[in-house]
Amino acid sequence: MTKSFDVAVIGAGPGGYVAAIRCAQLGLNTVCIDEWKNDQGVASLGGTCLNVGCIPSKALLESSENFERAAKKFTDHGIKLDGLSVDVPVMIARKNKIVKAFTGGIAMLFKKNKVASLHGRGTLLKRESENDPWKIQVKNGEETEEIQAEYVVIATGSIPRPLPMIEIDNECVLDNAGALALTEIPKRLGVIGAGVIGLEMGSVWRRLGSEVTILEAQPSFLMAADEQIAKEAQKIFTRELGLIIQTGVEIKSIERKQLITIDYADAKQEAQKLEVDKLIVAIGRIPNIAGLGVDEIGLKVDERGYIEVDAHCRTNLPKIYAVGDVVRGPMLAHKASEEGVAVAETIASRKQESGSEPAAVDLNCVPWVIYTSPEIAWVGKTEQQLKAEGINYRAGQFPFMANGRARALGETSGFVKVLADAESDRILGVHMMGPYVSEMIAEAVVAMEFAASSEDLARIIHAHPSLSEVLHEAALAVDKRALHI
Ligand code: FAD
Ligand code: NAI
Repeated sequence: MTKSFDVAVIGAGPGGYVAAIRCAQLGLNTVCIDEWKNDQGVASLGGTCLNVGCIPSKALLESSENFERAAKKFTDHGIKLDGLSVDVPVMIARKNKIVKAFTGGIAMLFKKNKVASLHGRGTLLKRESENDPWKIQVKNGEETEEIQAEYVVIATGSIPRPLPMIEIDNECVLDNAGALALTEIPKRLGVIGAGVIGLEMGSVWRRLGSEVTILEAQPSFLMAADEQIAKEAQKIFTRELGLIIQTGVEIKSIERKQLITIDYADAKQEAQKLEVDKLIVAIGRIPNIAGLGVDEIGLKVDERGYIEVDAHCRTNLPKIYAVGDVVRGPMLAHKASEEGVAVAETIASRKQESGSEPAAVDLNCVPWVIYTSPEIAWVGKTEQQLKAEGINYRAGQFPFMANGRARALGETSGFVKVLADAESDRILGVHMMGPYVSEMIAEAVVAMEFAASSEDLARIIHAHPSLSEVLHEAALAVDKRALHI
């Protein structure tokens, strides 16, 4: 007999697994279908984020930063280490252990919340009548099963954007999965794309000793970030970390022999050649709708391949929602999860006819963090966006150099900038570069969600000495009354 559910979630990344758990918490009979297999061919929940994204990359960033601190920064503290070395297989094994704990943890959460879990590719099938439930074929190798559900949540995520001139083999030419699995430090590492993955992965292998050259097509760098932060970051990454970053390049050809040779035109249109031992291709990600059956059922997809949704993640088809990387908005795990929760609550309120539906996820309040050193984080509008939109604003800025805690840490690069409406003083954006800004940004998100003014932030007491005082001083600086500069 066909198994029947209230909700079928396709994809168990941070969008899908969170949606499934929240549906089950709200009393809906829920199944989550996922096709991910790890490199041992074993089903592994958690999608890109847990398997080859957020979690493993942060594990390696932490390990490599410890190595860099021990090699370059401990002597300032009077700590001497002789014969420092790095054991890459141990570092990778530690990363794999963290991934296994978390992916296994989701299986346990499913069990605890009574979410049914099916392994295989989910394909939506055409319905005979609009009153029928949705039917989904789940294919795992040779085995095929069909289930049905009243509601469907699509959370199939994204895949790396391919570079037409070279195929990823994850031996020499790597995508994010390959970049996280190297067991030797490449002498020369090339990276195509100075985006988030290029910078994070480039930082890992640079700190461990590779000579890293990043080739970026755009004339400037980190286009989504505030321009001032991006410019300062480029200087720091080049000067302090030793990354070689070339912007405005055009890749002409890539040849893979014993070495990988990249022919490209530089920003002055002069022909250049780069030879590397390994090459990471990180030129963005594209929505993953392969095999989902979108054409079959008439699901609308935009010209870039994203499933079209409204602010509440509703697709053009009744009772089908889509969340996460497969829809518009930033490709971030926490954005995917929040959409998953909102959709679960919408479905539950519809089924229970409670009439109260959650508000749409506010994409303007989604924080961004880039886990380089120094870290970069922001929320809300950049200065260039405010200028383009003709919004009058005031800016307040404060450097980490003038903060006692940052001095004690020995991490003084960077600053915090608060942008507030010139008339109402409402905070419109907060931009940070410096130590632990991945944690500090949360205060700015709370402030924006509560529609706070820079005056509100300036009046809140911040512990001394703490890094959060930099945000406090930046808020004071909006009104030109910073105290410690
Ligand atoms: P995914 O995590 O991609 O999950 C989709 C799941 O659906 C996968 O398991 C896939 O196998 C499955 N699937 C697809 N099609 C089907 C089908 N037809 N049937 C069954 N299953 C299917 N974001 C952050 O916020 N912070 C970070 O630090 C961060 N670091 C990152 C580092 C790297 C190297 C990468 C690549 C990404 C990183 N991201 C980070 C982005 C983050 O991983 C994604 O935004 C997030 O995983 C998106 O979640 P999702 O649920 O939409 O999709
Ligand atoms: P990205 O969009 O951040 O950067 C891709 C870069 O490649 C861009 O700067 C682009 O101009 C460049 N590029 C494109 N085509 C090129 C070409 N032919 N030659 C040279 N350069 C080219 O994409 P990335 O780094 O692949 O990451 C994908 C997404 O994953 C991110 O946008 C982000 O949403 C997510 N992510 C988030 C992280 C975090 O939150 N810390 C960490 C890693 C990824």
